Amino acid sequence: MMKDKIVIITGANSGIGKAAALKFATEGYRVIMACRNLKISTAVQHDIMETTKNTNVDLMELDVSSFDSIRTFCAAFKAKYPRLDILIHNAAYLNHGEKEYKLSPEHIELSFATNTFGPFFMTRLLADHLAKSPDPRVLHACTTNIKNFFDPKRKIEFDNLRGEYKGKRAYSTYKMYGDSKMALLMLTFKLAEEYKHLGIKVNAIQINRVKLSKETIEKMHSFWKVFAHFQNLTNPLPAGMADNYFHICTSDTFKDTTGQLINHKKEIVKPSISEKGFVQLKNIFGSTTYPKYAINPQNVEQIWKLSITLTEN
Ligand SMILES: NC(=O)c1ccc[n+]([C@@H]2O[C@H](COP(=O)([O-])OP(=O)(O)OC[C@H]3O[C@@H](n4cnc5c(N)ncnc54)[C@H](OP(=O)(O)O)[C@@H]3O)[C@@H](O)[C@H]2O)c1
Repeated sequence: MMKDKIVIITGANSGIGKAAALKFATEGYRVIMACRNLKISTAVQHDIMETTKNTNVDLMELDVSSFDSIRTFCAAFKAKYPRLDILIHNAAYLNHGEKEYKLSPEHIELSFATNTFGPFFMTRLLADHLAKSPDPRVLHACTTNIKNFFDPKRKIEFDNLRGEYKGKRAYSTYKMYGDSKMALLMLTFKLAEEYKHLGIKVNAIQINRVKLSKETIEKMHSFWKVFAHFQNLTNPLPAGMADNYFHICTSDTFKDTTGQLINHKKEIVKPSISEKGFVQLKNIFGSTTYPKYAINPQNVEQIWKLSITLTEN
């Protein structure tokens, strides 16, 4: 049955995003797949419409790493749809084994451009359309890689997000990815506060592990391809995580929840109380805490100000 609720899912052509598009379409939502590769995504769109018999599955071009593309996408979306009910920032950049520090079209480190500033900018541009919904919800796809593991001093390289040390400082695609998602979590807290008066709820989901798609594995460097195939043997299917996206964005349980990180068991994740000894081991292997770094007001303010500066230029 048609729900007349409108949901945008970024990166909906593969993995969890594709499974989420299928889930929302099955449940009768109007789904906008926001994807950068239209050729691959058109085939997925047609598959979803055929499987679900829901003809309201739209495909619109979006490269989340490019502010120009975000501007074009948001203008086209607003011209076409009267409001937005659910916005799911699922797309992300992580190229396993990548050794090169890469920049976005606006000269921002690619993980941060795609995973942090792009989603921030898109939410800001769509906030007025979200505010027209009776129950607007935004969801950020986060990761357990934000943990500081055995380095409680781990911090975001604020001085190296615009190519400052490109080719000069050691680059780890995993650290940059984890840090960009840490920044996204900090923006979750701040955006939730910022949009409370508009009724827009902003939360993040902590994704632990999910089977990777063939296409994603194909993009990896050689060793990582083998490793990913091996890991995939035990990783759960994306459909389970897509159900979590759906639950957080539609259920009464989370209707009034905002500014929270929610884990794969649908529990609220809390900041760690200590990052030493046995407690830290529990932080590393458990799924109920995130590093205190995320709620440090100075850190939150720094990423907030930088997000505004970069996207207002
Ligand atoms: N799978 C896991 O174990 C796991 C664990 C923790 C967190 N996560 C998070 O879960 C989310 C989904 O992951 P997944 O495993 O389903 O990944 P995936 O299958 O690799 O899908 C990623 C999607 O993002 C899209 N994308 C990447 N860069 C983009 C850009 N600049 N503009 C638009 N779309 C872009 C990709 O499009 P193309 O096809 O065009 O590349 C693809 O559709 C991500 O946010 C990821 O960080 C996943």
